Amino acid sequence: MGSCSIVQWSFFSLLWLQIATGTSEVSVKNLRESLEGPFGVTRHQTANPAGKAAARRHIIARFEEYGLDVTVQNFNGSTGAPDKPGTNIIGVKRGKMNGTSDDRIVAVGAHYDTFATTPGVDDDGSGMAAMLEMAMIMTSCTQQRYTVIFVAFDNEEVPVSATRASNTPCDISRGADDFVCSWLLPFLNTTGRPAEFQGIFMLETIMNYDPRPNVQTLPAGFNIFFQPLYQKLQAAEFSGNFITLIRKPEEEELVALVNQTWEDRAKEPVGAVNHDVQVPVPGKPSVAETTTFFDLVGRSDCLSFWVQDPYLRCVFVTDSANYRGSMQQCYHKSCDNVTSITPDKLNFLAKVTDAILQTTMKLAEVNADTCTKVTSAATGLHGTWFIVMLLSLPAWIWSILQYSCTPHVI
Ligand SMILES: *[C@@H]1O[C@H](CO)[C@@H](O)[C@H](O)[C@H]1NC(C)=O
Ligand SMILES: *[C@@H]1O[C@H](CO)[C@@H](O)[C@H](O)[C@H]1NC(C)=O
Ligand SMILES: *[C@@H]1O[C@H](CO)[C@@H](O)[C@H](O)[C@H]1NC(C)=O
Ligand SMILES: *[C@@H]1O[C@H](CO)[C@@H](O)[C@H](O)[C@H]1NC(C)=O
Ligand SMILES: *[C@@H]1O[C@H](CO)[C@@H](O)[C@H](O)[C@H]1NC(C)=O
Repeated sequence: MGSCSIVQWSFFSLLWLQIATGTSEVSVKNLRESLEGPFGVTRHQTANPAGKAAARRHIIARFEEYGLDVTVQNFNGSTGAPDKPGTNIIGVKRGKMNGTSDDRIVAVGAHYDTFATTPGVDDDGSGMAAMLEMAMIMTSCTQQRYTVIFVAFDNEEVPVSATRASNTPCDISRGADDFVCSWLLPFLNTTGRPAEFQGIFMLETIMNYDPRPNVQTLPAGFNIFFQPLYQKLQAAEFSGNFITLIRKPEEEELVALVNQTWEDRAKEPVGAVNHDVQVPVPGKPSVAETTTFFDLVGRSDCLSFWVQDPYLRCVFVTDSANYRGSMQQCYHKSCDNVTSITPDKLNFLAKVTDAILQTTMKLAEVNADTCTKVTSAATGLHGTWFIVMLLSLPAWIWSILQYSCTPHVI
């Protein structure tokens, strides 16, 4: 090897830096600002109504700024919880097929309320930060075939155990339930012939990356029902370096697409993997299934979709919340706060955001060439990528010339 000068090395480093930051359009800075801003304080109707109202205003303002069609859905609570009024915020990005029965609608959701005793940075400020970032990027695109819905749910954190037993559609008492029954079903059926619902990605507590060994715990019975995955986690020394996609057999294709996107993307700031947890029973969950697999089937807003007839697809995307690392102590507690944010966790959150964003764009057939904030879509090199390549060209040429001019031994 020829000896490289300091200047030459700095060119190489610069080149590397350009590649490393040029592959993703998801901004870690934006994610951090969301988490340190409206999603870093308690958002609960009695414990901190002002914090919840501020978050709501923030979401509405952002959705409007991004040019989404915004609906503020006030509800009085479902039959299961008539005394729990709340407000979902819905932002629609219409595709070319909007308003026809040929539309194939796809959605992304997260909940903006918190449990009374926590600032809820991971649960679920992380999901909200990710969703707003996706909405911002996707609205920079001018051509898409199918409609995309972004929805910020209220009242995910309400007790549901008393009413879940019936597993009746529209009787689960969460905001997601009111969204599905009073808004989504009529929306799908605007023409009198229901449009297809491709599914919703439910972003539920998604930033707690913790690669240390022995930080991942699991719900009771996991080692029996999900043995192959359990063995993988065991072989990885129960490290908390993964995101989980919890779903039923109906979401096979959605998860396969997330998998592909996850692997395609060059951006790998942290050694994160994804795991697919398929609850084996297809269709509407029975009471027994919800009880047996409560942590997988019963605890997230996906239940409001899965209990419908016809079934509505939902993928529950999560870091496993109280089953991992510091969240074993901080789940629903004051220490799920802004001091827990680290660069690694933000990078992990960015990677998850990016994978779900790209998957949603594929499902909605967004033409990436029409986006101003997508820098390296799967369709090829263009936009910022091209500029990055162009800018690094002199560095390459100079390095090659320098190399061939310097005496070297191999
Ligand atoms: C909620 O209840 C109040 C009082 O009964 C009623 O005026 C209001 O229209 C209801 N809102 C919705 C969204 O159902
Ligand atoms: C929505 O559909 C109408 C026709 O029904 C069409 O004129 C309009 O351009 C569509 N909107 C978008 C954003 O594609
Ligand atoms: C859709 O709307 C039509 C006409 O209003 C109605 O007959 C049909 O039952 C609806 N379908 C569903 C699944 O709601
Ligand atoms: C997704 O990837 C995970 C991890 O590689 C794998 O175990 C799972 O079977 C894949 N799922 C699908 C539907 O492709
Ligand atoms: C935030 O969490 C840290 C622990 O991670 C704790 O020391 C601190 O007291 C918490 N702050 C508040 C305001 O509760």
